[in-house]
Amino acid sequence: MSLNDETITELHELGSRYPEARSALLPMLHLIQSVEGYVTNEGIELCAEILGLSAAEVSGVATFYTMYKRRPMGEHHVGVCTNTLCAVMGGDLIFERLKGHLDVGNDETTEDGKVTLEHIECNAACDFAPVMTVNWEFFDNQTPESAVELVDALRAGETVKATRGATITSWREAERVLAGHEDGLVDEGPAAAGPSLVGLKIANERGWAAPTIKGSKSKKAKVADDKEGAVKQADTSRAESETIAEDKK
Ligand code: FES
Repeated sequence: MSLNDETITELHELGSRYPEARSALLPMLHLIQSVEGYVTNEGIELCAEILGLSAAEVSGVATFYTMYKRRPMGEHHVGVCTNTLCAVMGGDLIFERLKGHLDVGNDETTEDGKVTLEHIECNAACDFAPVMTVNWEFFDNQTPESAVELVDALRAGETVKATRGATITSWREAERVLAGHEDGLVDEGPAAAGPSLVGLKIANERGWAAPTIKGSKSKKAKVADDKEGAVKQADTSRAESETIAEDKK
């Protein structure tokens, strides 16, 4: 698909959302990827023209961030975290198994065009290590076997749900969401669960709280201050309206 009038209109809309138009470059590049499957030269030229930047400036951004791709992607992006914790918990094994099973190397796409495999850095989900992502949705506590089952299901076109509930769509659809368009799936699955909340649970049970930073007020003191401020504000407003009423007599 090439960049048609509808996409060009959407790119202009993104550019007009920000006080500084160039701030829209990141979502614009995601939109380009959602349509073209990667950041094409045509997409770079178009973003540059709309934002009044040089193609080199746009290209510099598109090649700096790893979420932007300069080669066509498969229907699904499958990421395997091989950063320290996931690696020692099995991420390296998973990645090796998938490379062999899919017959691809890092950042390569299967012959059927269904899966692009990439080893990814820490996704801030270490408490569920080793994790994988499909189109940036999390698959927690994976094993080489579950990883193979997952990619087989994706290649077979089966309905796949992420561990935390989200239905897997496609990489292009996920890119459209990253460009700021709703897909109606935002409420699928919990925002935080399991190991992520264990520390909070223990702290609540034991009455622990973070120490107050010198010079800042505790939450309790802030609430008290807010209440006092609200009472003073109410008193002032009442006094003002009484004065106005008196003046009108
Ligand atoms: S090391 Fe894998 S999510 Fe942090």
